[in-house]
Amino acid sequence: MELNKAKDNVKIRRSTKKDGAAVYQLIKRAGTLDLNSAYCYLLLCDMFKDTCAVAEADNRLLGFVSAFRRPDQPNTLFVWQIAVDPETRGLGLGKRLLKEVTARGGEEIRYVEATVSPSNQASNRLFRTFADAMGTKLDVAADGYPSTLFPPGMTHEDEPLLRVGPFRYKGKQEHAGTTGQTKETKPLKEGFGEQRTGNEKRRQTVHAGI
Ligand SMILES: CC(C)(COP(=O)(O)OP(=O)(O)OC[C@H]1O[C@@H](n2cnc3c(N)ncnc32)[C@H](O)[C@@H]1OP(=O)(O)O)[C@@H](O)C(=O)NCCC(=O)NCCS
Repeated sequence: MELNKAKDNVKIRRSTKKDGAAVYQLIKRAGTLDLNSAYCYLLLCDMFKDTCAVAEADNRLLGFVSAFRRPDQPNTLFVWQIAVDPETRGLGLGKRLLKEVTARGGEEIRYVEATVSPSNQASNRLFRTFADAMGTKLDVAADGYPSTLFPPGMTHEDEPLLRVGPFRYKGKQEHAGTTGQTKETKPLKEGFGEQRTGNEKRRQTVHAGI
């Protein structure tokens, strides 16, 4: 597949249960992510379709994001996993996937969170550039999931919690319909963001690993 051609053709849409198997394979070849069960991806793609999205071109799955609204903080969208096919990375698909699931929440979503290992430069950069696109800041919380919380004998990096926000969606929602029809997401800068002062912009904090 020619990358430039793929970039032009890629559609972002809601996931369906038919995507589950391909998502499992995508996460497997992504390399750096914890691979969950095939059943887990089926369930996410089906029952969490309103907060999950896939990127596809020519019937090939090129990207996936799974997210959910935190039950304890409904104004916060927690991004669980995001992956782009190694052949189509660096083309903006990761950012488009994040925009898609955030836009669907409309004004109710004020924050996006994710835990990202310090060594994952691509992912840290993705959330940083996403915060910029939203016209807001990125903070790294003191907590998150440190390596000590994982089972004994399992080597796992710390998972610091990144928090992007606050932001407010101001425009009309533009996203894929529930039927799985494909529709491109409107660029965020047209619909998101808050006016911030120079001082607020300078307060933006990012993880040292970015
Ligand atoms: C993280 C990932 C989803 C990013 O997807 P992507 O489509 O390549 O990202 P984008 O093209 O939208 O790029 C977003 C930003 O990250 C930057 N970026 C992308 N890959 C990068 C890399 N390897 N190193 C540094 N920065 C990188 C881009 O330059 C862009 O920043 P900019 O807008 O300031 O130029 C992808 O690298 C991936 O699938 N990695 C493996 C799975 C993974 O680690 N997921 C995250 C777990 S939390």
